Amino acid sequence: MAVILDGKKLRDKIFEQLALKIEKMPVKPTLAVILAGDDGASKIYVNNKRKSAQKLGINSVVYEYPSDVSETELLNKIDELNRDKSVNAVLVQLPLPKHIDKFKIINAISPIKDVDGLTVYNSGKLFTGEKPYVYPCTPKGILLLLDEYGIEIEGRHAVVIGRSNLVGKPAAQMLLRRNATVTMCSSYTKNLADITKTADILVSAVGKSIVGENYIKSDCVVVDVGIFKGDDGKTRGDVNFDSVSKSVSYITPVPGGVGPMTIASLMLNTVELFEKQQL
Ligand code: GUN
Repeated sequence: MAVILDGKKLRDKIFEQLALKIEKMPVKPTLAVILAGDDGASKIYVNNKRKSAQKLGINSVVYEYPSDVSETELLNKIDELNRDKSVNAVLVQLPLPKHIDKFKIINAISPIKDVDGLTVYNSGKLFTGEKPYVYPCTPKGILLLLDEYGIEIEGRHAVVIGRSNLVGKPAAQMLLRRNATVTMCSSYTKNLADITKTADILVSAVGKSIVGENYIKSDCVVVDVGIFKGDDGKTRGDVNFDSVSKSVSYITPVPGGVGPMTIASLMLNTVELFEKQQL
């Protein structure tokens, strides 16, 4: 039976330390979130972010827009938030409505307020091996969790399934920087199981049920980023937890694994940006 990588437990530990730090701050960090459209999951995510910020003493402001919001309206709000010295972190919740150019919107965020690390500035720094202001939340959370359990990364084969800008691509870059040997796969990869079976660390970020026991070698560390409702209405991830957890060495549960760590990283990033802006 695998050891469970408990994201909730580590999130709580990080929150405890952060709360103490924020308590001592005469001015509290402020996170601004832009939510456009009516994606149900996004609303839940944003609400969770707001509640976590509140718990920690971080100010949070959510700006909600209807799905027919114009690009100009969003760009104007970002410009206002960039100029506002009392705002330390800006997050544009994805996905944005289809008619909006997400790259234009994300890159309008001032790099030093880019709490997701998604601008060309910060992702470019990550790619070249320079230091971005902050690292993207989900991959950062994954590495914090692996480190918490003392899991070795250097020299090991990490396979990442999924190539999104939010998770797959930055996760691969961050693992490379930690001297893992990284293979990137996607839904187009042929003979996926042949590749994943060679993984010492498997990160699955697809949002579909794909990883079964025949995809894994026995001492693998399995990180499941997917979260969706299965046919039975139950929340599940990309990985068949019941069968895979019997043979691997470590595994993240869904829920309670990567999700809480993404939020913990967002709160850490908000405080880091606040501190960098004081210099
Ligand atoms: N949509 C799903 N996860 C995330 C996230 O971490 N950040 C943003 N901006 N949008 C998301």
